[in-house]
Amino acid sequence: MNNEKFLENRTVLITGAGSGFGREMAKGFAQKGADLVLNDINLKGIEETREIILKSVKSDILLVKADISKVDEVKEMSKQTFSRFDNVFILVNNAGVRGVGKRASSFSLSAKETEYDRIMDVNLKGAWNMTKIFHKKMKNQSYRPIAGKIINITSCAGTECGANPLIGIYSVSKAGLIMFTKLWALELGANNITVNAICPGIFFTPIYESREFIKEWIKLRKVSLPIDRVGETTDVAGVALFLASPAADYITGHNLILDGGMTCSINKL
Ligand SMILES: NC(=O)c1ccc[n+]([C@@H]2O[C@H](COP(=O)([O-])OP(=O)(O)OC[C@H]3O[C@@H](n4cnc5c(N)ncnc54)[C@H](O)[C@@H]3O)[C@@H](O)[C@H]2O)c1
Repeated sequence: MNNEKFLENRTVLITGAGSGFGREMAKGFAQKGADLVLNDINLKGIEETREIILKSVKSDILLVKADISKVDEVKEMSKQTFSRFDNVFILVNNAGVRGVGKRASSFSLSAKETEYDRIMDVNLKGAWNMTKIFHKKMKNQSYRPIAGKIINITSCAGTECGANPLIGIYSVSKAGLIMFTKLWALELGANNITVNAICPGIFFTPIYESREFIKEWIKLRKVSLPIDRVGETTDVAGVALFLASPAADYITGHNLILDGGMTCSINKL
């Protein structure tokens, strides 16, 4: 990626921007000239993200503490966003929860209803809430050839070989988001909005309570990573920048797997 500031005068909204991938993507977008709306339920997290960014680049940054699973809070986020900025060129549906850490209770059939609801409400309904509300303004934006872009953060857990009792309902939520990516690409193509997904494999971020959990998972699945390392948040941010760039203007409905080759090599349980 060259130094061109292709996001100048454009706003990027990232959900779950107080940690992990969200924070790293925010840094990358700001370096390309974007103004930012940083959303999270964790206000301290987005305050830290803003502080980190402003140390190295100039960016107009709005912080919005909101729970994306609650439609009223998303509507309020939209109000705040459009009273500060005149566009959301890129919406990144990144916020997500993995669910529970203990193996037994991750089994989908032993999950509690509250657990099922929380995972689906954040990972799937949250992205739907955001897209449903924000696309209305995005589709009337005058940028051309593309009026706006939506990037969903899915997961290899939601792909065909992703079924795993360790992550249970999470897989179902991400499979749903992969399908939404395709549906929204169809629904919004005529409005010059592209919709794509980044589908990460295994990355160490605070979403996992420990590195041991990852090790257990890798052992259980007999996973081999052809590119033999666990992913870095910068890998995800790089692909998000590519999708945001003009080079990706003709790509839509795509679930871009970013896993060092894991899904090619994964063994069945
Ligand atoms: N880390 C991985 O290996 C991995 C792999 C595949 C997919 N993902 C996905 O990447 C995305 C980012 O995860 P991460 O690994 O950076 O984890 P993370 O826990 O570091 O970041 C997730 C952020 O989302 C926020 N959040 C949670 N619920 C929210 C809500 N209701 N409203 C607003 N914000 C909320 C959290 O406070 C947190 O800051 C998630 O969707 C996750 O499922 C992660």
